[in-house]
Amino acid sequence: MARKSNSISEFESTRRRRRLDEDEIFSPEELARFEAMRSEDFDEGPVDDGPPAGDRWSIWDQSEPLQRGPRPWPEWVVTDLGAVDYELGVLKTGKEADVFLIERAVPGTDRAVLMASKRYRSAQHTQFNRAGDYTAGRSARRSRDRRAMEKRTTFGLEQAAGRWAAAEFDALTRLHDAGVAVPYPVQILGTEVIMEFIGDDRVAAPRLAETRPDEAELESLWDQACENLRLMVEQGFAHGDLSSYNTVVHEGRLVVLDLPQIVDIYANPKGFQFLGRDVENLGSWFTARGLDRIEVDELLAELMVLAKAR
Ligand SMILES: Nc1ncnc2c1ncn2[C@@H]1O[C@H](COP(=O)(O)OP(=O)(O)OP(=O)(O)O)[C@@H](O)[C@H]1O
Ligand SMILES: [Mg+2]
Repeated sequence: MARKSNSISEFESTRRRRRLDEDEIFSPEELARFEAMRSEDFDEGPVDDGPPAGDRWSIWDQSEPLQRGPRPWPEWVVTDLGAVDYELGVLKTGKEADVFLIERAVPGTDRAVLMASKRYRSAQHTQFNRAGDYTAGRSARRSRDRRAMEKRTTFGLEQAAGRWAAAEFDALTRLHDAGVAVPYPVQILGTEVIMEFIGDDRVAAPRLAETRPDEAELESLWDQACENLRLMVEQGFAHGDLSSYNTVVHEGRLVVLDLPQIVDIYANPKGFQFLGRDVENLGSWFTARGLDRIEVDELLAELMVLAKAR
């Protein structure tokens, strides 16, 4: 107790000393002005950095140039510094990530765009046991990161979530540039990938698995699937998890999603197996709806030739 009152009186005397010093340096008017400024700050309470509307300031300017989508930026991309992001809800919770619908808008204007925000989970990530197969042939340049990932420490899981996000953003960028039908990648920041929203009026386009195409539509969708696979193989990639659940159909257009595990078919020792599985998984959905099985076999043969010729 004695100690405590001691330190209080020490504090008091220091305070009085400082007060004296201030009196010596500043005129009474200046001191009165400082006093008024201090009490104004106090009246306002803690400084609020949040935007006047929306759930956060747009994070566009927080991404480095290479963490933004390829140029030219589509005209719908909102780059204004005064823009805000609204959270409109969850599109889908998945095993590895949750996909949210967000709107980026410039308050006081009619500039607004819907986007999909895919946020990788770090802590309770459970899918890492299969990660080895996919990432074989990829280098973890910083050995501290690699060791941590191997140990699956919390640090490793955090790093891994960021890596999956980065891998998806990279894949979207490469494939978009190669002409594959993927959502335009807007930006990546940490474990969040923001991309073009495929859908209308806040409603996501249905997954291929949920569509009931007639014969002509089925043929068109299959042709698009073939073309997208050719373009990917020309770039040296297999999707790695292609199926009627990772593709959506919007206004008759087949769009390929979910690309963090994209497989380098040459660097990965199981590259060709992944390619074969992709064709089989997607193809089986089409054959169950009337596509001739031979089309699937022919596509696989064609892709293998294409891949080996590269
Ligand atoms: N850009 C987008 N536009 C519209 N809907 C999207 C978009 N991205 C994802 N979705 C929706 O969210 C779902 C999940 O996305 P994605 O497959 O990329 O995540 P995931 O975590 O791998 O999910 P899962 O574990 O179910 O495979 C998609 O099937 C689709 O319905
Ligand atoms: Mg998926």
